[in-house]
Amino acid sequence: MKILIAYSTKSGTTAKCAAILSKELASHSVTLADLSESFPDPEGYDFIAVGGPVRYGKLHKKTAEYLDVNKEKLKSQRAGYFIVCGFVDSADEYIEKLIPAELRKSAVTCACFGGELNIRKMKGFDKFITKLMIKVVTDEGKSDGELPARSLPEIHPDSISRFADAIKASFA
Ligand SMILES: Cc1cc2nc3c(=O)[nH]c(=O)nc-3n(C[C@H](O)[C@H](O)[C@H](O)COP(=O)(O)O)c2cc1C
Repeated sequence: MKILIAYSTKSGTTAKCAAILSKELASHSVTLADLSESFPDPEGYDFIAVGGPVRYGKLHKKTAEYLDVNKEKLKSQRAGYFIVCGFVDSADEYIEKLIPAELRKSAVTCACFGGELNIRKMKGFDKFITKLMIKVVTDEGKSDGELPARSLPEIHPDSISRFADAIKASFA
């Protein structure tokens, strides 16, 4: 089967997730497309997986644009959508808000693949915001005294595996 994984990324985590997904689907013919470089036509693929990172509560603009431009085609094909984000507790809300309802409705699967806050890859204002986010996610539990401090977000390989399984099951 021909599978397209179309993604965008700002600091590399979504590209890592897309590469893990592509490995999970190695028994198929997988095309990985960075939407900052090309906007592949979904036609001609048996499955299209589209994903991107969340920043300031919004989906990366290339991923959002791709979903918008290809909405009609995606609705009528087998497709799945994924997000990558730092606040994984908000993942369901992000999916509902950022993936158009008509695409979610026709989707085989929608998921959050976790995320990373990799300060070493950040510069300027992004670095400043990342430091603040690290403080929020790691300090959040401390104020209560009972809850343990939270750890930094990570990629969730299990979620990527489940997404790959749903794609494979859609071909059965
Ligand atoms: C400037 C900035 C803003 C961010 N805003 C959000 C946000 O609103 N919600 C969230 O859950 N994560 C947010 N994140 C975390 C990113 O989603 C996370 O770092 C993700 O792994 C980035 O993926 P990428 O490397 O593919 O760009 C933000 C990160 C940065 C640097």
